[in-house]
Amino acid sequence: MPKFGFTTITVLAITIGATTSYASGGGSEAAGAQIAENLCSRCHDIADVGPSPVADAPGFRNIARQWPPDHLREAFAEGIMVGHGPVEMPSFELGPDQIDDLIAYLNRLAKP
Ligand code: HEC
Repeated sequence: MPKFGFTTITVLAITIGATTSYASGGGSEAAGAQIAENLCSRCHDIADVGPSPVADAPGFRNIARQWPPDHLREAFAEGIMVGHGPVEMPSFELGPDQIDDLIAYLNRLAKP
């Protein structure tokens, strides 16, 4: 998968809003929270167990506790979000760095 182009531009755009710097490999919780807010919060409770704006959508804390981060990373990369549930899903284009950020955010939620 190419690392340049779309992904690089996206990371730059996100970094402007985030104070956390990008350590190699690790995602940014702050950027992940921003992605969740922008793309997911319309249906999911992104900070707690729910209830969510869309009743069928599990709260992110529950998702974080239910699935190991590596499973989520794989699922996000393959695009499970597209078409999940009874509600029409937008098609997300998440780059590897955005996925790392989301995972970092979910990891934090999974902690008690
Ligand atoms: C248009 C509404 C909507 C949006 C936007 C949305 N989701 Fe969902 N999501 C749902 C619904 C509804 C379910 C539960 C349906 C199901 O489990 O089949 C769900 C379930 C999930 C699950 C659990 C899947 C499983 O198999 O248990 C994950 C993980 C998830 N969403 C991640 C995300 C992420 C990350 C985003 C933002 C990038 C997002 N969703 C945006 C509606 C949405």
